[in-house]
Amino acid sequence: MKQNSSLFRKKTVDQILRDANSAENGGLAKILGVRDLVSLGIAAIVGAGIFSTIGVASYNGGPAVSLLFIFTAIACVFTALSYAQFASTVPVSGSAYTYAYVAFGELFAWIIGWSLILEYAVSNMVVAISWSEYFTGMLKGFGIVLPGWLTVNHETASDAFAKLQSAGAAEMSTYERFAAAAYEQSPVIGDFHIMLNLPAGLVTLLITALVYIGIRESRTASNIMVVLKIGVVLLVIFAGAFYVKPENWSPFAPNGIKGVMGGVASVFFAFIGFDSISTTAEECKNPQRDMPKAMIYCLVICTILYVLITLVLTGMVNYSELKVSDPLAFVFEKNGLDFMAGVISVSSVIAITSALLVYQLGQPRIWMTMSRDGLLWKKFSKIHPKYQTPSFATIVTGFVVGIPALFFKMDFFVDLTSVGTFFAFILVCGGVLYLDHTGISAQSKFRVPYLNGKYLVGALLILAIAGLSIYGQSVVDEWKAMSAMEIVEHKLLTIIFWITWCILAVMSYKYNFSILPVAGILTNLYLMTELGSSNWLIFVIWLAIGLVIYFSYGYRKSKLA
Ligand code: ALA
Repeated sequence: MKQNSSLFRKKTVDQILRDANSAENGGLAKILGVRDLVSLGIAAIVGAGIFSTIGVASYNGGPAVSLLFIFTAIACVFTALSYAQFASTVPVSGSAYTYAYVAFGELFAWIIGWSLILEYAVSNMVVAISWSEYFTGMLKGFGIVLPGWLTVNHETASDAFAKLQSAGAAEMSTYERFAAAAYEQSPVIGDFHIMLNLPAGLVTLLITALVYIGIRESRTASNIMVVLKIGVVLLVIFAGAFYVKPENWSPFAPNGIKGVMGGVASVFFAFIGFDSISTTAEECKNPQRDMPKAMIYCLVICTILYVLITLVLTGMVNYSELKVSDPLAFVFEKNGLDFMAGVISVSSVIAITSALLVYQLGQPRIWMTMSRDGLLWKKFSKIHPKYQTPSFATIVTGFVVGIPALFFKMDFFVDLTSVGTFFAFILVCGGVLYLDHTGISAQSKFRVPYLNGKYLVGALLILAIAGLSIYGQSVVDEWKAMSAMEIVEHKLLTIIFWITWCILAVMSYKYNFSILPVAGILTNLYLMTELGSSNWLIFVIWLAIGLVIYFSYGYRKSKLA
């Protein structure tokens, strides 16, 4: 019993507010309004997702991926409301990590903090790789061609080379042909081809240095970057619209629902970041009024942009050409508009740099908060005497992001980021149910609109099952054709989803749960199940490593211990 209670020891809202107010540097200046928050949000949201991963998603799902953007945005809206409620209840900077400390106790707080590394550091590996693609494209525009083996990772290149051998060049996309050539031309030691993404590593180094010496994205700088980002996106949409060939939209979903859902990780990745504005709650003029508004505005703006851009990209070239990491420039190049492609490359490089900066700033600060609570080594909260930044944590972030960005493939990090972030989102939605249940919600200045789910959650479950048995014949047949072992192997996550829904239906009946956070849990979990079991496996390994660190360090050293 004692063991349990100490594992789940919680911080109270009062305790957290007291800690925040007693911080040596006093309270933070409360200056941010809705417009600043939306700007910060877009600075974090619009990055590698729309500039890069949208390419692979469209390649897998075709134009129908635009619909997936809408569905994913809805899941994000439920989550955003939950974040907003927490941000107004506990207006301090630790984001989901702090929220979990209040709702579920220390062990979960640690797990969330550990998952946020996936959201911040691992996502930044993707952003760095995306930056590199646009950067090399931009250099090419200026006539500077870097050796291929210094710009492509080993796996992509060797896969492309293998495809060249087996299927031939005619079957390959432009990018795959380039990667295969890079493989052939790379220096070889023994049997090993040396390949690395040098620009991705270097830009991380550079940004880390900036963050280290304390160049903070001021409001003005962030606003300028955001205008530039939106500018590039709008440019692609409006200029591209003239080159759309509607016949490219048919078939709309060439690989069926499966193909569309194959893009979940990439599509979700593109929305990640709206939650990061919750970390500024302490600096908001009126967080309870502005935070929810700002998150919803961010999501609406991004969804509209994303849907339009997907339609333009898949309209300008055939979806099967879009397996590239710089699709925005690529589609123009492909249409013979080299000048436009050049303009887009240059502005994308600047735009993506700002996303890199946001996360490279965020990660060390989360570690700093965790270290202050005693869950991470003291060094992580060490502040540089001159630059006043969390210096050690910043350097560690640089290595953690920069080294993998040199060697690994983007897709792997996209999946890992998404699975970790879904997990954090689910816990934040669940946390709101806890706030309601314990009455802490009475202290929340903003509350997720309450709609009683007593009967509704169960009724919707029955409706879903009925709908599936009537209209989902192919799904039912697929399950029937599988042995019990195969079901466990391939459908475990789906089973977990349905069991969770059943449990939530019962609990909603018992505790009158509010329907919106429940919908948040279920939509996020559903999207998460679509990620494929290998991603979950990696995530579980990630969690296991986190737990080992917690039990060998944080559990004993925690301030609450
Ligand atoms: N949403 C962020 C991006 O697309 C992570 O870069």
